[in-house]
Amino acid sequence: MARGIVAIDGPAGAGKSTVARQVADRLGYLYIDTGAMYRALTWKALMLGVNLEDENALTALAANTDVALTGSGEGQRVYVDGREVTEEIRRPEVSRAVSLVARVPGVREEMVCLQRQLAAGGRVVLDGRDIGTCVLPWADCKIFLTASPEERARRRWLELKGKGYEVSFEQILAEIRERDRIDSQREVAPLKPAEDAVVIDTTGMTLPEVVEKVIRLCRDKGCEPVERRGDGS
Ligand code: CDP
Repeated sequence: MARGIVAIDGPAGAGKSTVARQVADRLGYLYIDTGAMYRALTWKALMLGVNLEDENALTALAANTDVALTGSGEGQRVYVDGREVTEEIRRPEVSRAVSLVARVPGVREEMVCLQRQLAAGGRVVLDGRDIGTCVLPWADCKIFLTASPEERARRRWLELKGKGYEVSFEQILAEIRERDRIDSQREVAPLKPAEDAVVIDTTGMTLPEVVEKVIRLCRDKGCEPVERRGDGS
């Protein structure tokens, strides 16, 4: 019987986190943003001035850092050693550095261990790069969301502008391409669809269309919504 494990992978800006959040809300499952974990560690590395080329230092940092997620859906909060960093980890300097931290095998070992613990109870939606291939190859439903680099850069640019950042579209496009390159070419758990993943190209699709399609695929794989009690609890 399906345990309700949904894996949503794909490159930067494909809409994974928005889709994963909404799918989790609709199914009544826990949402786990694995990218936020790598971002949290990257935030700490930047704060401490750790050399991002130093794999041993980054591995030690991962082993000595408490990364925690609380809540689900829109209300998910991210903590590093007890300090809330939910907003800080979305800053452009973290986005620029995160792929360098995430390519380190020792860092990934720590994060994957934590992600498996969080998912152990089932009824979860995880989004990331390697959920279907490495973290939870036994997931019930695997989705790989993608879109053209220009479309992904446009979405990220609008998002950042909405938050008040002064960034050029060309710069975001170049950064997205660079992150795709590092994520796809790294030795451990590179970004790629699992063999049994359903690939959805979201270029030209609206958010509700993507969410509906993913929910349908989840239900086809036996991931049913959690029964909610009538009193809203
Ligand atoms: O939201 P966005 O697509 O910009 O990225 P994210 O999901 O927050 O992930 C940030 C970075 O973390 C990625 O570019 C990867 O380098 C890394 N990551 C990873 O290696 N494995 C995961 N399961 C999730 C993220």
